[in-house]
Formats: sequence, C-alpha cells, structure tokens
Amino acid sequence: MGGNNKQVTQGKTFRLGILGSGKGSNMVAIADACAAGRIPAEVAIVLSDVENAGILGHARERGLKAQFFPPGKFRTKLDEEAEKNLLATLERENIDLIVLAGFMRILKGEFLRVFEHRVVNIHPSLLPAFPGLEAWKQALDYGVKVTGCTVHFVDQGVDTGPIIGQQTVPVAVGDTAQILHARIQEAERELYPECVAALARGEIKVQARQTIWTR
Ligand code: GAR
Repeated sequence: MGGNNKQVTQGKTFRLGILGSGKGSNMVAIADACAAGRIPAEVAIVLSDVENAGILGHARERGLKAQFFPPGKFRTKLDEEAEKNLLATLERENIDLIVLAGFMRILKGEFLRVFEHRVVNIHPSLLPAFPGLEAWKQALDYGVKVTGCTVHFVDQGVDTGPIIGQQTVPVAVGDTAQILHARIQEAERELYPECVAALARGEIKVQARQTIWTR
C-alpha cells in the first residue's frame, strides 16, 4: 500500500469512496472518525445501489456527497454498464480507497483490476468461517461460541481477500440472530475505522495472503 502513503505525505487528503446498500452504521462510524480526526482521510462520496437506503440519508445529514446509482438488471452483481459508470464516478472523484460498508453486490473484473488492493470490505464473521449472506445467522445455526467481524481486501472471490483485521465477539446462550448481529455491529464500528485509519496512513503492506501492520 505504498501508494496510500505517498498521498498523505504529499499533503493531499486521502479520499474515501464508501459503497453501501443498507442502513449505514459502518459508514457513520467511518465518516465520524474522519470528522473527528481519528482517520486521516475525507469521505469524498457515498454511493448506494438502493435508492432509499439509510446510508444515503446519514451521508446527506453529514453534508457528504451521496448518490444513488442504478445497479442494472442483476440481483447480486452490477451489470457491465453499471460497473463501468461506477468506475468512472470513482475515478472522477480521485478515490484512494473504496470502502464497502454493507454493499450487497459482488464487484468483479475490470473494477477490481483498476482498484487492486484499494477495495476493502467488512464481513460479519471471522473469515474464512461463514462467508456469504447473513453470516451472523450462519454462526448461530452452526452453534459456535465465538464469532466476530473481519476487514479484508476484496479480490475476485466472495469474502476471500487478504485479511487486514479481525475482532472476536462472544455468542451468548439465548442470542437471537438480531441480538447477535447487533453485538457484531458494535465490534464493526470499532474495527473498521481502525483499519481504514491504518490504510490511510499507509501502514498496511500486502504480501500475498498476509497483510503486515507496519506501525
Ligand atoms: C454489516 O453488518 C456488514 O458486516 C454486513 O452488512 C451490514 C451492514 O450494516 N455486510 C455483509 O454481510 C457483507 N457480506 P450497515 O449498513 O449498518 O453498515
């Protein structure tokens, strides 16, 4: 991640593009950490594939640029034109790091080639356990005693990229899926800003599957 370091040391603000499809609690945690100076970066744009998603409302309340983009005809991925338009928007905005915050579509091909090692995601389990949808429910159904959340680089697979950080969360007797997800989300709001801050400072190096925190 030497490129990130360069941006900061040259005095240019490190620019985040945040993508989400849901209520936006991770975006809020990251935007507020930027505003408070805990992340040396600015949220340049917030984008959603869901027109009425909470994430767009929370972004606008904070005076951030927030836009809906039509995802196209598929349910779980973007169609070619949508992906091309999204790429163009993020390049126009001079984005240094794309932060997926509850973005529920798979990004692929050209998009990930252009932004290699510059797209990160948060997943609500301790990967590689429970990739995919509703990971907290998968963990509960499996009967694990400990789960958590993972921040990772996005590669061509589903939740398979190099791991940047993880935080554990206990599973308690009597937890419902909703209660467990809420507990995991508390951990997400700590872990994600911490990882994004390290990335903005250029403190994360990637060596094959390993990431190294240099601080
Ligand atoms: C978060 O819990 C995040 O881990 C999960 O969606 C939620 C979004 O919440 N992401 C995934 O499941 C990705 N596979 P938010 O909109 O409040 O940030």
